Amino acid sequence: MGYFEIKGGARLEGVVTISGAKNAGLGVIPAAILAGEMCVIENLPCVSDVYIFGEILSELGAAVNLAKNGVMTIDPSSISKLTATSESVSKFRASYYLLGALLGRYGHVELALPGGCDIGERPIDQHIKGFEALGATVVIDEENCKITADADQLKGCEIYLDVASVGATINIMLAAARAEGKTLIVNAAKEPYIVDVANFINMMGGSVRGAGTDEIRITGRQNLHGCTYAIIPDMMEAGTFMIAAAATGGNVVLNNVIPNHLDAISAKLLESGASVETDDDGREFYVKVSANRRLRGVNIKTQFYPGFPTDLQQPMGAMLSLAKGRSLIIEDIFEQRFKYVEELKRMGAQIKLNNRRAMIEGVDSLKACDLYASDLRAGAALVIAALTADGVSRLHNIHYIDRGYEHFEHKLAALGADVKRFD
Ligand code: UD1
Repeated sequence: MGYFEIKGGARLEGVVTISGAKNAGLGVIPAAILAGEMCVIENLPCVSDVYIFGEILSELGAAVNLAKNGVMTIDPSSISKLTATSESVSKFRASYYLLGALLGRYGHVELALPGGCDIGERPIDQHIKGFEALGATVVIDEENCKITADADQLKGCEIYLDVASVGATINIMLAAARAEGKTLIVNAAKEPYIVDVANFINMMGGSVRGAGTDEIRITGRQNLHGCTYAIIPDMMEAGTFMIAAAATGGNVVLNNVIPNHLDAISAKLLESGASVETDDDGREFYVKVSANRRLRGVNIKTQFYPGFPTDLQQPMGAMLSLAKGRSLIIEDIFEQRFKYVEELKRMGAQIKLNNRRAMIEGVDSLKACDLYASDLRAGAALVIAALTADGVSRLHNIHYIDRGYEHFEHKLAALGADVKRFD
């Protein structure tokens, strides 16, 4: 198993180009199944989650090619299997989008129950409720860890989501894109990934209106065609680099960003005393983050977009461990996203956990340790902690980081960090 060796103490300085958004890509890749012909998806991050999804589509019979520059071509016309029960499917959370895509395109799907990062109970009841409302029969076979969905013809309907779930919103959009008639999703998620998937469906000739608001209207279209589409920049990768820049007292310019996707992170960094500037160079936007004094503690409550994202409370927790004074983090979305706290405490952080709350008393320094990532963003948080620590840390379980950060160690090293990968 590989690990990172990270020598703490360097201030991050320079320019970093943000990759395409993993979570948007994981919605757009299966959406290509809805087309009758080849789609070209550009600006995908070269991360393991994207490779795995490409492989899963190949296993179904699609012709898939992923180039090193992040361009994936998918020709779904050769799909011959509607069953995906391999181990890679069961371990991969986003495989649940095959439910909506295959059901929407072929009226049948059989899938291994989806896994993913271990961040608590992640039910899919809202996805299932949506498919059933569209007229599908959904059967869960818990003994064999399988889920099957069938429909002769999906029919548009109104669906109210009990939780504004990203996954359920995208999955229902996929299923409804070729259904007969109109579908209305009420209390839809508003994350930028939703807008990206909706734009992709529209580029294929579909009709999705209102994405980015809490009411999405989909008019089913029987014939969707191929198209070329570029994925939006990754707000979580950008947020991670912004936090790393502030935590190390650095000065970093981020290119390929959509600044308003980063408003919640910018607001909290400003509140903690960092400087965040947004501008454009005449061609595209950039964000510049710097910090030249010790940061102050701030309070954070994770919320759905446009609130503070749950994915970035972990990197923020690492940063706030060294901030002056007290910080409170309330995690209301995924109860297991505090596993990194134990690792920070071994580095000397003072954090009290109480259910879904972490109370942090900032310390003057963290010490290097052998560290273990428990999920993707916990991995990013521990990299940030190690960058600020005294001494050399080893971070294990970096396969989690490889799921979602493209060339992470190279990007950090280009900013002056001392990070090496050992395989
Ligand atoms: C997606 C992101 C993940 C991010 C999360 C929240 C992808 C591949 N992953 O995950 O990085 O942290 O959004 O922004 O895009 N819930 C239910 N029933 C359901 C579905 C969800 O109760 O049927 C609950 C979940 O337990 C959680 C909340 O809704 O508490 C949000 O989950 P959801 O938005 O669905 O997250 P994911 O799509 O799994």
